[in-house]
Amino acid sequence: MTAGTVDVHVFLGKGGVGKTTCAAATALQMAEAGESSLAISTDPTPSLSHIFGLQGEHREREVLPGLFITELGLSEVRAMWDERFGREVYAVFSSFVDIDYPSFVQFVTAMLPGLNEEFMVDYIRRLSSAAGYRHILWDTAPLGQTLALLAMPSLLAEHLRMAPRIYSHLRTSGERKEPVMQVIRGWQQLAAACLEFLRRDVHLSMVTIPEALAVAQLDSVIGELQRHGLALHRLIINNVVQVTDSAFLARKAEQQRPQLEQLRERYRSLPMVEIPLFSEEVRGIEQLRAIGGLLGPAPAREPERSTPA
Ligand SMILES: Nc1ncnc2c1ncn2[C@@H]1O[C@H](COP(=O)(O)OP(=O)(O)OP(=O)(O)O)[C@@H](O)[C@H]1O
Ligand SMILES: [Mg+2]
Repeated sequence: MTAGTVDVHVFLGKGGVGKTTCAAATALQMAEAGESSLAISTDPTPSLSHIFGLQGEHREREVLPGLFITELGLSEVRAMWDERFGREVYAVFSSFVDIDYPSFVQFVTAMLPGLNEEFMVDYIRRLSSAAGYRHILWDTAPLGQTLALLAMPSLLAEHLRMAPRIYSHLRTSGERKEPVMQVIRGWQQLAAACLEFLRRDVHLSMVTIPEALAVAQLDSVIGELQRHGLALHRLIINNVVQVTDSAFLARKAEQQRPQLEQLRERYRSLPMVEIPLFSEEVRGIEQLRAIGGLLGPAPAREPERSTPA
């Protein structure tokens, strides 16, 4: 999986299954192996700082040598979109619609669902070719948002297919129409590039837990990803009860067994890792190191397809 000289990994899964834990543990492991890594969170309620035992939220903060974290909240993402596209698009729209800028931003972000997510994919994509990290570990929001995020580039492409027809009917002067079309074409290209990036350059790890609901949801989620041409590269089963030194834990393990068997059977063609349930919350370097060791190294880069043997 290559994007320039950087490997990009994304951790997907429903709420609370251990996405942040896995992203942080992998980032730590890579950094300790001498490969600089950035754990980046696009979760509106980020927890990377917490997991590394830091106060507050951080942007490009070096936690340990070669290990960086960045947390991008929703307002930050919106501000970045605003900076990159907002004014340009506004200039075009305001040429034929009388609207003030804040209302315009609200209108556009409501009209195109997931514009922020689209921008996020674009942000990671640009980061992967510009920044000096060897690994980018992308810690996503819980599944609902994550799916919108992944679906976004193709949704936007779909949405915009109609746009030229609509805009060509607007009664504006020829000069004004042209910039509108240019902006739309720009967005279409961006959507296509983002989807291509997700399909080709991003390593997708799905994190789940051996519970009935999580297992039941997994199939439809994986189907959804496939509809967008996105194939999973690895399944991480977290919170597996392995030590049964009490009646309580023995019961829990008993409950997990059929879910585990189902997961092992149904996804046997996928690389799979099982992470035990720890007796304490995973926080701090020692525990992350233990999880990193269990996860194994970030999956190796595939050879360049374009390079002849
Ligand atoms: N194997 C484990 N054993 C014990 N606790 C764990 C394990 N994995 C994760 N945890 C704990 O479970 C909680 C949720 O983990 P984490 O924050 O990584 O999940 P998440 O999928 O990122 O959640 P969210 O969807 O809210 O972002 C944390 O308190 C974490 O320390
Ligand atoms: Mg998280």
